[in-house]
Amino acid sequence: MDLTHRPRRLRQDRVRDLVSETSLEPTDLIAPVFVDATTDERVPIESMPGHERVPVDDAVARVEEVLETGVEAVMLFGIPESKDPEGTRAWADDGVIQEALRQVTSETDAYVITDVCLCEYTDHGHCGPLEEELRGGALADGPACEPTMTVDNDATLAALEKIAVSHARAGADMIAPSGMMDGMVGAIRSALDEAGFEHVPIMSYAAKYESAFYGPFRDAADGAPSFGNRRHYQMDPANAREALREVRLDAEEGADVMMVKPALPYLDIVSAIRREFDHPVAAYNVSGEYAMLHAAAEKGWLDLEAVALESLLSIKRAGADLILTYFAEDIAPQL
Ligand code: PBG
Repeated sequence: MDLTHRPRRLRQDRVRDLVSETSLEPTDLIAPVFVDATTDERVPIESMPGHERVPVDDAVARVEEVLETGVEAVMLFGIPESKDPEGTRAWADDGVIQEALRQVTSETDAYVITDVCLCEYTDHGHCGPLEEELRGGALADGPACEPTMTVDNDATLAALEKIAVSHARAGADMIAPSGMMDGMVGAIRSALDEAGFEHVPIMSYAAKYESAFYGPFRDAADGAPSFGNRRHYQMDPANAREALREVRLDAEEGADVMMVKPALPYLDIVSAIRREFDHPVAAYNVSGEYAMLHAAAEKGWLDLEAVALESLLSIKRAGADLILTYFAEDIAPQL
C-alpha cells in the first residue's frame, strides 16, 4: 500500500502523550462539599454514592480529605437549620456557610468558593422571594388571570448582595451566584466593592439551564421547589444563542469566570463561549451526570473510572478551564 497519511503513527504508545491536545490536572477540578446544620453526624447522599452531608464541625475534616487527593478548590453548599419565605438564614452571620467558612478558611489552605443562591434557604424552595404575577412568567399553573407566583427578581438581588457580602466577610475566596436572576452579577459586584471586597472574584453561573440532571443535588441539598419549576429563571435547553447573550451581560456586569451548567449535554455551549469570550470558562458536571455513571457502573455496564475520566477530559477538550465535579476526589489521584 502506498499510503502517505497514516494517522496511526502518532497513536503508538511512546508518542501519544507527546501529541495529546488536552490534559487534565488536579488543579482544574473543584469539589462540591455539602455542609448541613441539621445534623451532628455525616449523612450519606443516597443518589450520589461516596458523597455526604457533613455537620459544620466536620467541614474542616471534609475539606482536608479533598485536599489530600490533590484537589485545591472546594465549592461549599449549605443546608440551614430552618427555612422561611425570604431565606433569611442565607445571610445570617451565624448561618451554616458563614460558620463553616470561618473554620475552613482559617484552618485549611483550600481555595473556597461559595454557591450564592436562596433555594436551599427558602421554605418554598425557589431561588428568591415570591411575588404575585397576573400573567405570564408564573411558576404555578393556575387558571388564566388568577394570581400565581413567580420569583421577585429585584427583591432577590438585594438578598444576593447581603449573602455575598456575608460570605466574603466570613472568608470566601470566590463568590458563585447560581440563581439566574437578571442583574445578579452587577448587584453582587457593587455590593462586594462597597464592602471592601474588590479583590474577591465572581464566578457566574452564566448559562445555567433548567435541567432534569439536577435531581440528585436537590435531594442532597434539600432544595427542590415545593411547587412549579425553575423554567421562569433558568435557561431553556433549546437555546444556545441565548447563552452567549447571558455571558455577554455577565461580562459587562463584571463576572470573572463564566460557568456553563450542566456540562456533558451542553458541551456545544462550552465550546461556543470558549470561542467568543476570553474569560476562563467553568463547567459544572452536575449531580445527575455523576449519578448516571454510578448507576450504570453498579450494574456492571460501564467502567466507572474510565467513563469518569473520559467525561472530564471531554469537558476540557470542549474548552472548559475548570470543572466542578463530584468525581474530583476519585479522579485527581490518578492524574
Ligand atoms: C442552587 C444550585 C443547584 C445546583 C447547584 N446550585 C440546584 C438547582 O438549580 O436546582 C445543582 C448542582 C447539581 O445538580 O450538581 N441553585
